[in-house]
Amino acid sequence: MHKIGIFFGTDSGTTRLIAKKIARQLKGRIGDEAVGKPLNVNRASADDLLDCSALILGTPTYGEGVLPGKASRNAEESWLEFLPKLAGRDFSGMRVALFGLGDQEQYPDHFLSAMMDLHLCFSEAGAEMVGGSSTAGFEFNSSRAVVGDRFIGLALDQHLQHLLTEQRIADWLDEVVPLLLSDRPVGQEAPA
Ligand SMILES: Cc1cc2nc3c(=O)[nH]c(=O)nc-3n(C[C@H](O)[C@H](O)[C@H](O)COP(=O)(O)O)c2cc1C
Repeated sequence: MHKIGIFFGTDSGTTRLIAKKIARQLKGRIGDEAVGKPLNVNRASADDLLDCSALILGTPTYGEGVLPGKASRNAEESWLEFLPKLAGRDFSGMRVALFGLGDQEQYPDHFLSAMMDLHLCFSEAGAEMVGGSSTAGFEFNSSRAVVGDRFIGLALDQHLQHLLTEQRIADWLDEVVPLLLSDRPVGQEAPA
């Protein structure tokens, strides 16, 4: 059976809140048993991630466009401390979708950039990265999380646009759920 794991890093708790929102919407679509309880990566092991059939991973951006963690002056350990634990682990064949939180008004030069660090780490470990989203509706100068004209994951801004979040999650899940559930190679999924 498919089990989608949801893991996040956070400093001030907003990404945890969003992970719970995503879990709630996802359960409404594919059932409670198919969705893991959202877990902070500072309490997770590499095996917790590898035990899932697909992953949704969330991160805020801190510093000037970097992942959360003690080196980003956050209070607790987070992705910066967790990612080294994945060294040598193989995520081949696993589908991974990302969501990112940032603040386009205060940090327009590094908006959501840390999502790219997760993208690089998991794609280097063999994962098939899915679930980009449009940059339409955002105003920022630059972001490492944009490839072409799309974000590499779900983009959210709880500071300026929190009222748009539920719908953004719903629209993203419309696209990403069939990809996360499919056993076929990327690009050859059955039509919805
Ligand atoms: C010191 C600091 C640095 C930040 N740097 C960035 C940044 O470079 N890019 C960005 O998009 N958001 C940045 N943010 C905004 C956070 O990513 C945003 O507040 C996010 O919602 C926090 O999530 P959390 O509550 O899960 O920690 C920064 C916030 C703080 C306090």
